[in-house]
Amino acid sequence: MYISDSGIVNVTTSPNIAIIKYWGKINIQEPINPSISFTLSECKTETSIAYQLCKSEKADRQFIFQNERNTHFEQKLIKYLDSLTVFLPWLPDFNLKVTSKNNFPHSSGIASSASGFSAIAKAIADIHEKVSGKDLSVEDISNMARLGSGSACRSIENGWNVWGKNNILQKGNQHYAININSYIHPIFTSICDSVLIVKQHEKKVSSSIGHQLMTNHPYKEGRIRQAHQNMEYLLKALEKGDIKNFLEIAEEEALSLHGLMLSSNPGYTLLVSNSLAIIKKIREFRLSNQIDIGFTIDAGPNIHVLYFEKDSDIVLNFIQSELFSLCNNLAIHDHIQFD
Ligand code: PMV
Repeated sequence: MYISDSGIVNVTTSPNIAIIKYWGKINIQEPINPSISFTLSECKTETSIAYQLCKSEKADRQFIFQNERNTHFEQKLIKYLDSLTVFLPWLPDFNLKVTSKNNFPHSSGIASSASGFSAIAKAIADIHEKVSGKDLSVEDISNMARLGSGSACRSIENGWNVWGKNNILQKGNQHYAININSYIHPIFTSICDSVLIVKQHEKKVSSSIGHQLMTNHPYKEGRIRQAHQNMEYLLKALEKGDIKNFLEIAEEEALSLHGLMLSSNPGYTLLVSNSLAIIKKIREFRLSNQIDIGFTIDAGPNIHVLYFEKDSDIVLNFIQSELFSLCNNLAIHDHIQFD
């Protein structure tokens, strides 16, 4: 009845960093506003899934993360796979053993859920092809990744991706990301991201709670307007190669995200004093040296320093001499994956 009864598939995906931030959900894991991100190059998730036709009544699911069985994530995986059964009716008939590894530390300011779920979705799509003989489209795979973690839908294709309905890109969709590499000015294919790890501990308030707090947030409507406006400006900047506007939007988005956290009910802070000290130094360095450097921040205290390959020597020097003391010499130097 199935073309293949057992086998193993291997995939590799990368996390992405958003410049326009997705913050707040509607319906089932749809964003309240559109977002834009790029995928990273050095940071990777490698996932393999062994599948085998199940002989007993209930299919077995196992999740091994960084060489250890992770029962907490196994529960999430079970729910996630259940949510995919409507598209993939073969799922309940197969035992699945997922083995996943990241080459970057957990809680490092790089969202492992995006690369984690995009890898699982890609691997499941590969198994689908093997057992049913049918291919899934990139849009279908991105949609499947979204159901695991919203931002994961932007890690199916490399480079720059947009998720969410918007007035600029007609193809913008609430269910899957679209790739915009063909609009991108060459300068933005050389963007670098050095993540300064100010603090490595698990965050006090998870992103799921943060998304929920947007539902009745007093600034929700204003935030939605701002994201749509920034979307328009950012797409123009990315197309024209306008670095100045790009950095302005990236910083505004990052600080808005953290402003929304501060002004939620209950409010909370993920930034720490060294995060703010780093931001100040980056801005001073940009002003006094006329270097194209800026920052973005994910849902955590760590600062992503944004710059371009053309300036990498001078920026890496600056990071080492001025910023390393503010992040215990801990940094991940990465850049866009664009192909
Ligand atoms: O995909 P989630 O639920 O982990 O949310 C991601 C939210 C941000 O990382 C803060 C922003 C984004 O667009 O990636």
